[in-house]
Amino acid sequence: MAIRKVGVVGCGLMGGGIAQTCAQSGYETVVREVNQELLDKGMARIYGAWDMLASKGKISQGQVDENRRRLHGTLNLEGFADCDLVIEAVIENMEEKLRLFPALDRIVKPEGLLLSNTSSLNVTQMGAVTKRPDKVCGLHFFNPAPVMKLVEVVRTISTSEETVETVKQFAVSLGKTPVLAKDTAGFIVNFLLIPYLIAAIRMLENGMASRDDIDTAMKLGCGYPMGPFTLLDYVGLDTTLWAAEAIYDEYKDPLYAPPPLLRRMVLSGMNGKKSGKGFYDYQQ
Ligand code: 3HC
Repeated sequence: MAIRKVGVVGCGLMGGGIAQTCAQSGYETVVREVNQELLDKGMARIYGAWDMLASKGKISQGQVDENRRRLHGTLNLEGFADCDLVIEAVIENMEEKLRLFPALDRIVKPEGLLLSNTSSLNVTQMGAVTKRPDKVCGLHFFNPAPVMKLVEVVRTISTSEETVETVKQFAVSLGKTPVLAKDTAGFIVNFLLIPYLIAAIRMLENGMASRDDIDTAMKLGCGYPMGPFTLLDYVGLDTTLWAAEAIYDEYKDPLYAPPPLLRRMVLSGMNGKKSGKGFYDYQQ
């Protein structure tokens, strides 16, 4: 199936990055937010990224104009009716997703594919509330979506081979390398990454080393681009907590049990870089 027009639900950190990636890869792209303020904020972030790339000489002003022409913001789902593929990147809350998928199923043309950028929720359940579970799968991007080269294609027990193939080709057309994962909580990356991030928080809770020393150790000792606390702030503490909870719910493995400090920071609104404060302070 040829993909020409793409819909993205949500223009936050991930949705905005995904919409940017699709539009700059040549797809007509519609991105939807729930109110004008959030849409304006998300669009401004995307325009800012293109201006930054132009100022570095990585793209021309003509390409910036073309990208902008291909990207359309909307406040309603009806704009997705003629999309060949829709990627949802709304909040990691199953109730939200289970409201969204039947709505997309009603609106998007019958042959359209419905994808979720969820990092650890059950994609099978999202497909089950539609009349096209064979056309539903996960397409999990990594933050920052325009830069990170990996996507996880998450196949449910109902996803058809044709859907998986189309989505893999679509991923390649975005400049990404797809890996195929079963629909089990955490897929590949978060199943491995979450215990590492959680272990770093436990080390801090137990006073085994300081935040800065743990970050420095993993950057310089393992060659990671960011230490665990910088990465936690970058990904979002709320996102990390939801992912840990989802994997813990599935396996009841204590490796994934959210540490008390993580839960309390999220309860206090300390969600990392996007909220101005997490393990580091971004307000100064
Ligand atoms: N669009 C296009 N390009 C962009 C961009 C954007 N929005 N933002 C940055 N870039 C480009 C820059 O132009 C730059 O290109 P250049 O090197 O050719 O000049 C390049 O990306 C790197 O950007 P910066 O120079 O600003 O920053 P750094 O070199 O410090 O790299 C980083 C930043 C890529 C974020 C790097 O620190 C990194 O890889 N960190 C780890 C990120 C990570 O692990 N992400 C995965 C998290 S897990 C996840 O998301 C899953 C979820 O489910 C929890």
